[in-house]
Amino acid sequence: MTILASPNHTHAQPEPVIVPRAELERDPHGTFRRYRPLVPFIRSDDGVFILLRAADLQSLVSDPRTRQVETEFAALRGVTSGPLFAFLQGSMLLSNDEAHRRRRAPMSRTFAFRIVSELRPRISSVAEDILDERRGDGTMNLLADFAAAIPARTISSILGLPEADIPRFTDWVYRMARSLSSTWVPEETPAIEEATRQLTAYVSDLLDERRRVPRDDFLSQFTATVDRQGQLSPSEALMQVVTIALAGSDTTRAALAIQVALLLAHREQWEAVCRDESLIPGAVAEALRYEPSVGSFPRFTLVEIDLGGHVLPAQALVSFSTMSAMRDPALYEDADQFNIRRTDHPRWHLVFGGGVHRCLGEALARMELEEGLRALTRRLPHLRTEGWPQIEASGGIRRIAEMPVFW
Ligand code: HEM
Repeated sequence: MTILASPNHTHAQPEPVIVPRAELERDPHGTFRRYRPLVPFIRSDDGVFILLRAADLQSLVSDPRTRQVETEFAALRGVTSGPLFAFLQGSMLLSNDEAHRRRRAPMSRTFAFRIVSELRPRISSVAEDILDERRGDGTMNLLADFAAAIPARTISSILGLPEADIPRFTDWVYRMARSLSSTWVPEETPAIEEATRQLTAYVSDLLDERRRVPRDDFLSQFTATVDRQGQLSPSEALMQVVTIALAGSDTTRAALAIQVALLLAHREQWEAVCRDESLIPGAVAEALRYEPSVGSFPRFTLVEIDLGGHVLPAQALVSFSTMSAMRDPALYEDADQFNIRRTDHPRWHLVFGGGVHRCLGEALARMELEEGLRALTRRLPHLRTEGWPQIEASGGIRRIAEMPVFW
């Protein structure tokens, strides 16, 4: 059901269409498809404005009339203190201007394309090893046994975690990542808080250890750089490392499972990739467009913004719906068709956001998705699944259900 807000006689502009959150979560693509031609944004009944059209996302993402949300989303869910609040306040992800630049800068070099490329052979062998171990089984849960393992092992190897710690580390990360989903409900908050407390304590110990006994690894270099430059407080340094763990795990695990689900559901395209590996980068880009693992990113308006007569109010929480924008026929031809051969992807794929917060891990994510797919198509070309896995959330980090596969 759609609620039309009561007419406001003091303003000439149309009132926003209000869509109940439950309706949006039940059928996000259907809701976006219905409203995108009619209005540039809708409002969910929890007060968040949802921006629908590609051109508006592309221009407003670096418009000085908007800024990154800081702790406003957390406040909307009732979080105003505690470990999660401290994380959201201290992370580059939700900060602006000078604080954002300081927090992102020490990480930028490590995640640059050239440096990340050196990880490709390692990622590829992780993917192949997992499949070689499972080959005789004839079945696995694609999400837990394969898709989760690739980002988990990659991030753990960047951070230098002992292998035995990976399961509890990733468990905290996945629980904490719920705070970055549109389906985060207040009942989950205690579990998210606890996971945040444990993860930050763990990473804090790790950083202390590298300060005491430096190794030849990323964390030792990171602590040495931030301590030498004196630009980040110890707590800020810690929050940026937690950000990397958080931003780089759930996002990629879901994307990997979703891309396989999409290809298997379009069998002829799966078979084409098995025959011709040059189709892999296009398949990755198309799966990220068609059914993204991150469905939106947030911003806050500083002043009113007029979009063709529809006005976003000042001080509004806005969800930039990449999920809607990447199905916008103004940007993509046959936008509702899954087509790994399409040639109309923009140079800056919208799934990774834009402006100064554009995903720091884009090169790494693409590489994990490409190598994961390459290993699967090489080792298990006869892979199949039953049905379509449930994919949850209209925005933020999305979730995919368990996905049994057979070969
Ligand atoms: C398919 C996988 C991924 C997707 C779809 C994705 C998407 C995004 C998006 C949309 C943003 C921008 C958020 C905003 O503007 O509010 C972002 C930021 C970020 N991502 Fe990713 N990401 C992925 C994987 C990764 C990986 C593997 C890493 C690991 C290093 C990573 C690290 C980050 C960081 C640190 C930020 C914050 C950047 C900043 O605020 O300056 N991401 N990501």
